[in-house]
Amino acid sequence: MRYLLLETYKGFGFITINRPDSLNAMNSDVVSELDSAVQQMIADDAVGVIVLTGSGDKAFVAGADIKAMQQMDSEKALVFGKAGQKMTLTIENSPKPVIAAVNGFALGGGCEISLACHIRVASENAVFGQPEVLLGIIPGWGGTQRLPKIVGTGIANELITTGSQISAQEAHRIGLANHVVPQEELMDKCKEIGKMILKNGPNAIAKSLNCIHESFHKSIEDGLKYEVNAFADLFETEETREGLTAFVEKRKANFR
Ligand code: COA
Repeated sequence: MRYLLLETYKGFGFITINRPDSLNAMNSDVVSELDSAVQQMIADDAVGVIVLTGSGDKAFVAGADIKAMQQMDSEKALVFGKAGQKMTLTIENSPKPVIAAVNGFALGGGCEISLACHIRVASENAVFGQPEVLLGIIPGWGGTQRLPKIVGTGIANELITTGSQISAQEAHRIGLANHVVPQEELMDKCKEIGKMILKNGPNAIAKSLNCIHESFHKSIEDGLKYEVNAFADLFETEETREGLTAFVEKRKANFR
């Protein structure tokens, strides 16, 4: 891959967006590579948790590539927008948790990529924002759809219409960042969370994420029905037998 660095290690799949000269801005090639890389990690049995970050110590992703967008007409913008949305859906629908290690600017498309991730860990220098309106455009990779679900409509309305940029601490206060840590501890914090996840049953993790995701589209009754079926389905798996039996036998479950 031209713009990404990939590494797998002890259950982790690390993806680094590597376009530091442009603060990891996303042109259509980077979008398509990221989509493929996440799919590759999902298909890799050795990977249980994916960590996504940007190269360098300044930016996670400073947005969709503004220089590329300047050349687009409406038709090209539609293709670009749809490709970006597809990539965010690949991340969001991953059965393996995707942790965003937000190591600097997460603006526009960068913020939207982090929104599609299941967990966001920010370094103290991280900056989040949806500054699209400053450019006369709107978020096109899910910002108007996912941000309100994470921080609430009132805050999303303000962030998107003012285009203001917020600190990691403010992102933490509004529930956008799960944790804020010094930059040199960012990867360790992501690994600490990942290691806890890796001890658990992969099917149970995938089903949990799926049920949480589905809850946004269903009434409480339908959501509960969906959840209880997923709960019951797991009882047909060896993983669930192992988890329950290990407790009864007073030993650690061995899921992987
Ligand atoms: N698209 C394309 N190139 C970008 C970019 C983007 N979203 N963000 C940064 N870059 C490029 C800059 O053009 C510059 O390239 P150059 O040296 O060839 O001119 C390089 O990355 C470094 O950025 P620079 O602006 O010099 O760094 P800075 O530290 O002064 O400012 C930011 C950092 C993030 C505040 C600033 O780059 C910025 O506002 N970027 C755009 C953010 C944005 O609006 N994103 C949403 C897009 S929808």
